[in-house]
Amino acid sequence: MSQTYTLDELQQMVHNCQGCQLCRTRTNTVFGEGNPHASLMFIGEGPGRDEDLQGRPFVGRAGQLLDKMIAAMGLQRQQVYIGNIVKCRPPNNRTPLPDEAAACINFIKWQIYLVQPKVIVLLGATAAHYLLDDPRGIMRLRGNWLNYQGIPVMPTYHPAFLLRQENAKRDAWQDLQQVMARLECP
Ligand code: URA
Repeated sequence: MSQTYTLDELQQMVHNCQGCQLCRTRTNTVFGEGNPHASLMFIGEGPGRDEDLQGRPFVGRAGQLLDKMIAAMGLQRQQVYIGNIVKCRPPNNRTPLPDEAAACINFIKWQIYLVQPKVIVLLGATAAHYLLDDPRGIMRLRGNWLNYQGIPVMPTYHPAFLLRQENAKRDAWQDLQQVMARLECP
C-alpha cells in the first residue's frame, strides 16, 4: 500500500462514500469504533436498523449480546475494535450483495492494516466470505483458526444468530476461549 490514510481520514471517506446503492437508503454510515491499537478486532456483516440510526456498530440487540461476550472475555468494549464488512445498512437487514461488499471491503482492510490487531474474530459467515474469500458456512468454519495477512482469525457465530439459537452459545464461548488463550487474557 503506497499511500497511507489515518483512521479519521478513512472515516471521512466512508462518510462521503457513494460507492454502491446502499448510500441511497442509509441514515448514517457506520465506520466502526474502538481502541485504535486494539489487540482484538471483531468484524460483523453490516449495520442493522439501530446502527444505521446511531452511526455506531453493534448497538442493537445483537450488540448487547456482543457486549456480554466481550465482558465474559474479561475485556471492556472500549479495549477492542469493532467493525463491519459494509458500512451502510442493507435494506431490511438483508445480506450485503457481492457488489456492495466489493465496493466497501477495502475500508475494513485498511482498518485492519491501521489497527494491527493480534487476533480477529469474524462474526458470521458473511464476514468470512468477504474478508477471506471463503465460501464455507459458519458451521464448518467456526472454532478453527484461519489467517488474514498473517493475523490469526477465529470465525464464530454472529450474535444475532445466537439470539435465535441459544444452544449455540456454548460453541461460541469455546471459540472465544481459544481467542483468549491466544491473546493470553487473564
Ligand atoms: N450486525 C452486524 O453484523 N453488524 C452490526 O454493526 C450490527 C448488527
